[in-house]
Amino acid sequence: MSIHKKRVLSGIQPSGKLHLGNYFGMMSRMIEYQESNDLFCFIVNYHALTTIHDKNELKDNTLNAALDFLALGMDPEKSTFWVQSDVPQVTELTWLLSNMAGVGLMERSTSYKDKIEKGLKPHMGLFSYPVLMAADILLYGSDIVPVGKDQKQHLEITRDIAIKFNNTYGNILIIPEASINQDTKLIPGIDGQKMSKSYGNTIPIFAEEKIIKKAVMSILTDSAGINEPKDKDTPLFQIYSMFLDTEGKKLLNDRYDTPGLRYGDLKKELFEKTIEYFSPFREKRTQLSKDMDFVYKTLEIGKNKASKVADDYITKIRNVMGLNY
Ligand code: TRP
Repeated sequence: MSIHKKRVLSGIQPSGKLHLGNYFGMMSRMIEYQESNDLFCFIVNYHALTTIHDKNELKDNTLNAALDFLALGMDPEKSTFWVQSDVPQVTELTWLLSNMAGVGLMERSTSYKDKIEKGLKPHMGLFSYPVLMAADILLYGSDIVPVGKDQKQHLEITRDIAIKFNNTYGNILIIPEASINQDTKLIPGIDGQKMSKSYGNTIPIFAEEKIIKKAVMSILTDSAGINEPKDKDTPLFQIYSMFLDTEGKKLLNDRYDTPGLRYGDLKKELFEKTIEYFSPFREKRTQLSKDMDFVYKTLEIGKNKASKVADDYITKIRNVMGLNY
């Protein structure tokens, strides 16, 4: 009996320097999917256009995201890994699906409202963002889309559009399931808020060692004396814990309860752990960045694999909609 692998699809924002929060929050899990699923993973540079209007910044971020993912273990043999704009059929599908996307539905998008509230200028790209995302998902017949809680509504919009399409034109589109990781630990930054580029509180993983060290050494700690028991609901404890297995976590827990623990020592250990953990990935990334031909070739292979699937779907969709006359 042949086992049908589920198609798991996810888009990644090309948003600059990768940090511990990205890695433990999303990327490590994503890369694990490729072991037993048919993983489709792409860099969402069309989506990035909604906020990045500088040509070089977009190009750099795109290539950097590709390097990051390949260095961290994305395996282009097992998976399909490409840059969104290399398969422009997705923009055609966006237009086709726009006619299935109610304005009311789109107006209820909290991520759109949040972006406007943060001061972004409302433009059609921002407003249509969820339709492009629906096209991303539906163009490749995705079964499962792993996303963070912030993307849950986008998946609901996608399903809504797909159901409406199927009701109108017949069962062509696969209705995707969101896989929302409920226990996504909030990964704190060095100041205790959620680790995020926009808060400037990240620990980067591919930066120079001294920059990583500076970030780790400035993790916010309280003024508990060396012999007092220490609070574990704190960024140092939580960040350190991400590197530990159950046994290691138990030990760290005990150390927090035992007199004599110095935060400074702990930070040095955490710095060393970070370097040790990421050093194979850092080496791989340096190697890849010296062989950009390989990177471009890899993305080209991904583009071809993705285009095949996209072409099949878009042909069927054009047919049922009456565009092929
Ligand atoms: N909107 C997603 C985010 O900000 C990125 C994204 C674009 C995506 N297209 C997608 C995620 C398709 C999953 C599937 O993280």
